[in-house]
Amino acid sequence: MSSNTKELLWQSRFSLPFDRDALLFSSSVHVDKKLYREDIQGSIAHVTMLAEEGIVSGEEAGEIIAGLWEIEEELSSGALLPHWEDEDIHTVIENRLKEKIGATAGKLHSGRSRNDQVATDTRLYLRRQITELQETLGGMLKVLVEKAECYQTTIIFGYTHLQRAQPISAGHYYMAYFNMFSRDRQRLHDLMKRVNISPLGAAAFAGSTLPLNPERSAVLLGFDDMFANSIDAVSDRDIIIEFISACSVIMMHLSRFAEDLILWSSYEFGYLEISDAFATGSSLMPQKKNADIAELVRGKTGRVYGNLMAMLTIMKGLPLSYNRDMQEDKQPLFDSAETTIGSVTIFAKLLEHTKLKEERLAKLTAEDLSLATEIAEYLVRKQIPFRDAHRITGKIVTWSIASETTLPHIPVEKFREFSEVIDTDIYDCLQADASVNSKKTHGSCSFDSVAHQIAEAKKQL
Ligand code: ARG
Repeated sequence: MSSNTKELLWQSRFSLPFDRDALLFSSSVHVDKKLYREDIQGSIAHVTMLAEEGIVSGEEAGEIIAGLWEIEEELSSGALLPHWEDEDIHTVIENRLKEKIGATAGKLHSGRSRNDQVATDTRLYLRRQITELQETLGGMLKVLVEKAECYQTTIIFGYTHLQRAQPISAGHYYMAYFNMFSRDRQRLHDLMKRVNISPLGAAAFAGSTLPLNPERSAVLLGFDDMFANSIDAVSDRDIIIEFISACSVIMMHLSRFAEDLILWSSYEFGYLEISDAFATGSSLMPQKKNADIAELVRGKTGRVYGNLMAMLTIMKGLPLSYNRDMQEDKQPLFDSAETTIGSVTIFAKLLEHTKLKEERLAKLTAEDLSLATEIAEYLVRKQIPFRDAHRITGKIVTWSIASETTLPHIPVEKFREFSEVIDTDIYDCLQADASVNSKKTHGSCSFDSVAHQIAEAKKQL
């Protein structure tokens, strides 16, 4: 057993110093040092409230706040390097304050425990990250509207089961993602209501005998409200779970988009070109142009899902109130926030630097079997029941494949062998753009519908 040289916050009750290996194992400084700004912000609000309530003098509060500002500067400049022996970032800052101003430093923690302190820091961190993620998603939404506008009249294949299904406006495709990321942003907005509540003043979990004013510290920190129950304030991490869950949904959306981009930029599809500035090559095969950025986004999705499972499992079955297990919340939280913000940012940039291969798409969509639904609906307009129309069209498709004749090139006499109601006006609907624009229903893929969607989206931005 080797013992620790520094005095820990809780050491006095013990007759032996804490074992160094046990301290190394339990120290969280390497992770929670990221919270230093939030920790100092929380401490300044707390000591301001203490002074206002007469728990510390104005002079003492002034000394503490000046010391905390210096420490923030030392930490951000790198002059002070947090050391693992200090157990966690809260202790790093407290110990440094003691070095600077002596015993007065000890007054900062009147009526406060690290339990409500860390819960406060976490909520301040979440608030900042949620705001940043919302802004990042806003950037993505802008790019999507630009793409939708640019390719409003470009016709691409819409897919189901990864089989060419029906031609659609490319703008419609981009607007589908607009809707998904817009809901993701709303989800964060909604989550903020539950995040922006102060736990400061709950102390260890039971409250304090000191005349604290948690309402005041909540106001000082810009929280919308304060906790209602001191046990709940320090014991739950549901907002972290909710946040990572929101991140997971964002990553899920991104991973699907990434998958489309990877497929569409492949030689086999050849629908889309990624800018050279966002593509990677192979060290062995000179011809390769890979969509690594999209692949990484797809891969990182797995990590964020893992973080969600980690958090749910850490919290499962924990008895009330605080348990040290909860210290493990920070790695999944930080990783999810950074990964999701980073992924949305780079994906929006990547997307901005992609181009649809319009000529190739025009050629492919003009001749494709995906116009078959048009024939069926043409027959319906000629009073054939849809089920019969479907069967007749199926036969036409089989003949088209067997005779290697694309639908628009089938002679009218041939068509009439399948159904007498077919006339030369069939060719009007065997054009991709006519097909797209014949869609009459709300929110459909026609150029007009896409124009309407874009106009509505612009109001949202
Ligand atoms: N580092 C701890 C955490 O992040 C701070 C709270 C410590 N509280 C305690 N009772 N040991 O959870």
